[in-house]
Amino acid sequence: MITDTAEFVKRVDGAAEYIRNALSGREIPSVCIVLGSGLGPLSKMAEDSWEISYKDIPGFPVSTAPGHKGSLIAGMLSGKSVFMMNGRFHYYEGYPMETVTFYVRVMGRLGVKVLFLTNASGGIDLDMKVPELVAITDHISFNAEPVLRGPNIPEFGTRFPDQCHVYDPELTDTLTACAKDLNIHMRSGVYAYSKGPQYETPAEIRAWRILGASCVGMSTVPEAIAASHMGIRVAAMSCITNMAAGISGNPLSEQEVLDNAALASDNSCAVVKEFIKRIKI
Ligand code: HPA
Repeated sequence: MITDTAEFVKRVDGAAEYIRNALSGREIPSVCIVLGSGLGPLSKMAEDSWEISYKDIPGFPVSTAPGHKGSLIAGMLSGKSVFMMNGRFHYYEGYPMETVTFYVRVMGRLGVKVLFLTNASGGIDLDMKVPELVAITDHISFNAEPVLRGPNIPEFGTRFPDQCHVYDPELTDTLTACAKDLNIHMRSGVYAYSKGPQYETPAEIRAWRILGASCVGMSTVPEAIAASHMGIRVAAMSCITNMAAGISGNPLSEQEVLDNAALASDNSCAVVKEFIKRIKI
């Protein structure tokens, strides 16, 4: 938990300043895309791109999750200047929530207006077909460590932020329209946040289903909360890489997640590119 808010803001602004200087005269992007499992190839699709390792950015953590690289990319995608986070930070890696969401704070201070979060998740809706895509419309996270606990930082946002539209409805409509027009199947659904790193139990999945969740994963929610706290508009897309615990009868495995994320990669990247093309910032 943050105790010294002035020191924390200084750290965030130090990282933002470092990135601004490292961009050396390039346009500062207004969009940040977080590349979840399967979206790695997008990092190579940016034109005129610039890349910096997380370990070189002062104050930035490094990502330790499998399949998650650790670099920030800036470049042109679908005609817009974007940041891409090639690797993110998870609570299960041992980071406190202010570290998991540190990059979001930095993006906010750099002036980013739209955060597009992507992830892999387990399917809870019984009619899901692996690897389909989901536009995340809302989340359930009351079981999680609260992201905004501790003294509020007014430079970032208000003490009691409304949570009715964490996922911007207009951006989410654009996301589903992109998939439809590309003939890519996408449903809308609620994402249940799981702290991990263990997968869920079958009983937990039955409980999530009763509570209205369509899919479950170990990322995205902390970042979405921090972004909406700062007034950054959020869109989020999930790739169903496995049926959630207890549904198929098979044990869950990281390999299954990575394999199916890779299978969906072309579709996921196509949707992201179309989304970036269409959004108005
Ligand atoms: N549970 C939690 N996180 C996940 C899953 C899952 O089934 N699949 C991919 N990420």
